[in-house]
Amino acid sequence: MTINKIKEGIYTFRSLDWDRRLFDELIPLPNGTTYNAYYVKGSKKNVLIDTADPKKGKDLIENIRELGIKKIDYVIANHAEQDHSGTIPEILNLFPEATVICTKTGKKLLKELLLIPENKIKIMETQGEISLGDKHLKFIKTPWVHWPETMVTYLKEEKILFSCDFFGSHLAQSSPYISNKAKVYEAAKRYYAEIMMPFREIIKKNIEKVSELEIDLIAPSHGPIHQEPQFILNAYQKWVEDSVKNEVVIPCVSMHGSTRMMVDYLIDVLIKKDITVKPFNLTEVDLGELAKALVDTATIIIASPTVLKGPHPRAFYAAYLTNVLQPKAKFASIIGSYGWGGKMVNMIKETLTNLDVELLKPVVIKGQPAEEDYRMLDQLADSIYEKHKNMGLIV
Ligand code: FEO
Repeated sequence: MTINKIKEGIYTFRSLDWDRRLFDELIPLPNGTTYNAYYVKGSKKNVLIDTADPKKGKDLIENIRELGIKKIDYVIANHAEQDHSGTIPEILNLFPEATVICTKTGKKLLKELLLIPENKIKIMETQGEISLGDKHLKFIKTPWVHWPETMVTYLKEEKILFSCDFFGSHLAQSSPYISNKAKVYEAAKRYYAEIMMPFREIIKKNIEKVSELEIDLIAPSHGPIHQEPQFILNAYQKWVEDSVKNEVVIPCVSMHGSTRMMVDYLIDVLIKKDITVKPFNLTEVDLGELAKALVDTATIIIASPTVLKGPHPRAFYAAYLTNVLQPKAKFASIIGSYGWGGKMVNMIKETLTNLDVELLKPVVIKGQPAEEDYRMLDQLADSIYEKHKNMGLIV
């Protein structure tokens, strides 16, 4: 945990979790993460904005002590997920005078998830904004970034947006600020892909809401603070908009090499047509990288052999994940080889019901690809090329 002064009377308490490698026991964290809480000292009232994951709660408390904080009047819970709210009960034990402020949905969740007593919570819908004396905080509802109760907090005088998960990135680093823009861009895109992408339409509205504010700093609760707010606002704008890139993402797995031969052939043909191809070998895939590639690809091809009458479990999992992440891709298809039959195509097709895609003719063959099978892959590649060209992705 480290204390960094951002402005006069405004501090960040960052819990650095360098070694965390998995979030939700699912999402890989190649760069660790941080849980950022913020402390704002007003002339009359003091506020803690978000807290820390319970396993880092001790560090947060130590930092509060180190800064000599004697009174906390409000704890702002922008988000009820435990990596930000999990230390609220401990804070309330230490500062029994504190009131938690969150959305109406947040109140319900905090009561259920953390057993916080009802009388300790005020809802922002009736609060709107609070005065700390010389500073004022405004609360803005931003639902589904990435839970239903999420909100952001805006410090009017200093033009700081405390955005919690929104605009955040899983990135542990020494500095509280961005030192490597490209690295933060990739980490933020990966984070968006993993948890925000399914809520793309509502996030568009949330971006509009926060864009109405004059913002000097965006202070998220994971990763570094954005000193150039437009950098991350523009990135989010691109990710949520409907346009896609001239790309084909191919999650693939092969048992005896036949499906892989099909994938390799398709990759070569697509590259010759100036289409960017991103294959992901599902036996060793980093799911975060796959999710990131899905953010703006035009086409997804799932490549799977047939195992016990159905798709290879790894391909089925990739299809399931793709379906829940709901990327904005426009086209999809399925390719693969089988030995003696099965329902691989139908089972994958039935898994992709959330996607608003045109399904291009699948190519499913028996055994090792023969000449006529390669011609079917040529036709699939031609079809992808035509579709991309008609969308103006290829000029
Ligand atoms: Fe970082 Fe949704 O919690």
